[in-house]
This record gives sequence, C-alpha cells and structure tokens, in this order.
Amino acid sequence: MPSSRPLVLVTRPIPTDWLSSLEKSCEVFVGLLSEAETQARLAEAEGLFSLLIDRVDEALLQKMPRVRVVSNMAVGVDNVDLAACTRRGIPVGNTPGVLTDATADLTMALLLTAARRLPEANADARAGRWGLWSPTAWLGADLRGATLGIIGLGKIGQAVAARAVGFGLRLVYAARSAKPEAEAKWGAVRLPLPDLLRQSDFVITLVPLNSETRGLIGENELRAMKPSAIFINAARGPIVDTAALQRALSENWIAGAALDVTDPEPLPPDHPLYTLPNCFIAPHIGSATRGTRRGMAELACQNLLAGLEGKPLLHCANPEVYGSDS
Ligand code: DGY
Repeated sequence: MPSSRPLVLVTRPIPTDWLSSLEKSCEVFVGLLSEAETQARLAEAEGLFSLLIDRVDEALLQKMPRVRVVSNMAVGVDNVDLAACTRRGIPVGNTPGVLTDATADLTMALLLTAARRLPEANADARAGRWGLWSPTAWLGADLRGATLGIIGLGKIGQAVAARAVGFGLRLVYAARSAKPEAEAKWGAVRLPLPDLLRQSDFVITLVPLNSETRGLIGENELRAMKPSAIFINAARGPIVDTAALQRALSENWIAGAALDVTDPEPLPPDHPLYTLPNCFIAPHIGSATRGTRRGMAELACQNLLAGLEGKPLLHCANPEVYGSDS
C-alpha cells in the first residue's frame, strides 16, 4: 500500500538514532545512489539527504521529479549543482556552525603536526632511529611570533584564528570582504593573497570550493611562499594543484604540508605524496568527532523537514531559490 508519508532518500547508511526526527514523519529509504533498488525509488522521493561524496547534478535531478528539498550533510556544497536545484525551485540545505569547532581543532592539529614534524619523529622512533637525546634532532618550527596566513576567514577560519592567537601566532588573512571584528579581536591584518603568501610562515586554506577557488594554490602561489613555510589544506582538495604541491614539497620550495583533503579523494595508497616525509595526510576527518557528526546529521534532518513542510531551511546554500538573497 503506498505510504502517505513523503519518501526521503538517504544516500548512505547513517546511525538510525541520528535520523530519528525524520523517521517520525517520513518514510526513510537508505541506499547508495549506484544501487538498482535506490534507482527504482528515485522517482518517488520528495526529499534527498546527501553526503559530500554524492554528485547531485542535473542527471540525478532529472530522475527525481518529485524532489522538493536536497539536504547535504556538510557545510560544503561543491558536490551539488546549486544552479540546477535553483532552476527547479529546490532549496539546498547545508550544515554550517555545528562543525566549526571540530574542524578548527583538526586544522590546529595539522599545523602542530607539521610544525613539530611529528610523523617523521614517530616513524624514526618506531624504526629504531631514536638515538640519545640530541640538541639538534627533529627540530621544528616555532609558533610564537610566527605569522599565520588564513585564506578565507569565515566561521572556521575565525575559529582557527581564535585558537592560533593562544599559540602566539600573528594573524594575516585574505578574504573577499574585510572582517573588522576579527581585526579588532585578534589584530588580524587583511592582505592581498600574494602578500599573504610572501609573509606567512604557515598558510591555511579555508575557502569553499567553487569556480573562483579551484586551483587557487598552484605553482606560482607555492613558489611565492617562504622556503620555510608550511602549507595546510583543511577545505577541499581541488583548491590546490596536487602536482604542483608534490613538486613544491619534493624540491623544497616550501618546508612541509599537512592536508586533511586531497585531489583526488580518496588519495590512492600508491600516490607519490605519501612518500614525502614532509607531507602529512589525513583522510578528510575535519568534522569527524562523535558529537559533530551527529550534530551535522540532525541539522541536515531539520533542513530536510523544513523543506518538506515548505518552510525556509535553517541553512540554505541557494537562498536565491526564495526569490531574494537574504
Ligand atoms: C564539510 O562539511 O564540508 C566538511 O568537509 C565535512 O568534514
């Protein structure tokens, strides 16, 4: 018997208690988009709960004529064709805020890991290369008094800034608009990108991936950095030209890198970046804490329910769908 409850398609298995609010009023079907059983339900679905690894594009939307809301369990929406959704009047939800602290914590962990050369020190200790304590072994970079350049001073960038000042880092940033509050609070100085790259001891990218930021850090940008600089990417892999980064690290244009995101993802195990001792790679775990992932799922459910009820989403990535930019 057909259900009167709207069908919501969830594209990967998610702990059921994270989805409990959905289950109260919707029929929830969990299945990979690639599976035949899921494909068979696309035409009926009124809500789509997607992850950042799902491509929500024209081709998928064409198979989902009844869909009224797309809710992405991520702050980033580069996996969703926003224009195609807007054309169909479909609001797209995302999950900013709930993952800010976890992602900023991980970003600082990356910075410290690279600055203090933890992977090299750990590998040496495990391999029996730990000789007597030496005044010059595994020397890393000082944080106090060093300059941290943050590219993109949104919510996560500002949470990183708040943490970084505690380590005595001086802050510079590049952003489309000035952030007077960050300037007043942490003495952050806004610079054009080339100046930021030249002046920074640590460079962190925290911008969303879009047509303007794809390939933002390439050969020219890496060559502009100090030879002692450490580069950190906690945003999206394609913001950086992977081949150029590999050369920068192997030819010592810069001192090191720590990446939570790569291009491609997953980075295949035989990728040359893994062989570089000055490159640390984490498998996209910025928001991977128990509380944060649950919070993201719950917020994605709230967005989805609002969309199904015809109400504005709590966080909407294409507000123009409502006929204004607000
Ligand atoms: C996001 O939400 O976009 C993050 O990359 C997930 O960790």
